[in-house]
Amino acid sequence: MKKIVLLALLLVVIGVVLSVYLKNVSDQPPVNPNDLKPFTRTELQKYNGQDGSPAYIAVDGIIYDVTKCESWKNGNHKGYQAGTDLTEEFRLSPHRTSVLEKLSTVGKLVD
Ligand code: HEM
Repeated sequence: MKKIVLLALLLVVIGVVLSVYLKNVSDQPPVNPNDLKPFTRTELQKYNGQDGSPAYIAVDGIIYDVTKCESWKNGNHKGYQAGTDLTEEFRLSPHRTSVLEKLSTVGKLVD
């Protein structure tokens, strides 16, 4: 009997955690490329995080702001440089896209 009560309690806890998680996920507004400012690769290079400039990176055509990321000090992260398109490098990195979802989007890459 005690086991059944514990199991029921566990199911309730899992249900609550899952519903909070799913709500957070669906609350995030999707990125609409039409609302993003266009940057050429040359313009993006200015945002390399050096000499006090902001640090932006491009992945899959979207430009993210990493200026405030601890791990991107001076626009450098594990030898990767901000101000560049890191689409391929990101694919090969150990990261999941969730690391990008936490960043603010500042634009889209145009050629
Ligand atoms: C966009 C291209 C990115 C590339 C190519 C990249 C690549 C890497 C690599 C190779 C590692 C080392 C993993 C290891 O030691 O096994 C790493 C670790 C890490 N990355 Fe990234 N990363 C990128 C973006 C980001 C972003 C956007 C963030 C956070 C805002 C981030 C945060 C971290 C953290 C916290 C670690 C582990 C801690 C550390 O060793 O500094 N990365 N990344």
